[in-house]
Amino acid sequence: MRGIGFYFFVFGALCVTAGMGWGIEMAISGDHRLAGAHAHLNLVGWVTMGLFGIYYTLTPRAAASGLAKIHLALAVAGVVVMVPGIAIAIQGGTEALAAAGSMLTAASMLVFLYTLFRNGLGQPA
Ligand code: HEM
Repeated sequence: MRGIGFYFFVFGALCVTAGMGWGIEMAISGDHRLAGAHAHLNLVGWVTMGLFGIYYTLTPRAAASGLAKIHLALAVAGVVVMVPGIAIAIQGGTEALAAAGSMLTAASMLVFLYTLFRNGLGQPA
């Protein structure tokens, strides 16, 4: 069984692959209206997930905790709900999905803050 850090990285790599495709499509079409959604897919989906993945790889005690799986679920759900939500909001539609996704994303960061203070960073001496 692979560690939780691996799953953060898999999701992050999927996000940035999709985000780059989206960026290329924006560049080719010259339509940059959804740049805000693209930016969040790449920065929350790839950069943030990658940082979480590095943290859990460096900190096995945190990775072994059940809370790490809850963290992963909240973080993935946040991106999956928030990014389409931002795209819908930019196009004049409802802001409800963007709001719900941002709450999930913020909740995942609160779980991470708790994890960080509980387990520290790296292997215990
Ligand atoms: C193949 C790779 C990528 C392409 C072709 C691409 C393309 C674009 C384009 C066309 C824009 C709109 C620029 C504008 O309207 O001024 C944009 C904005 C942006 N991109 Fe990307 N992008 C790529 C990868 C990334 C990555 C990996 C990240 C972050 C890790 C990123 C973050 C951003 C940010 C922060 C913005 C500004 C959003 C805004 O002004 O609202 N992009 N990108």
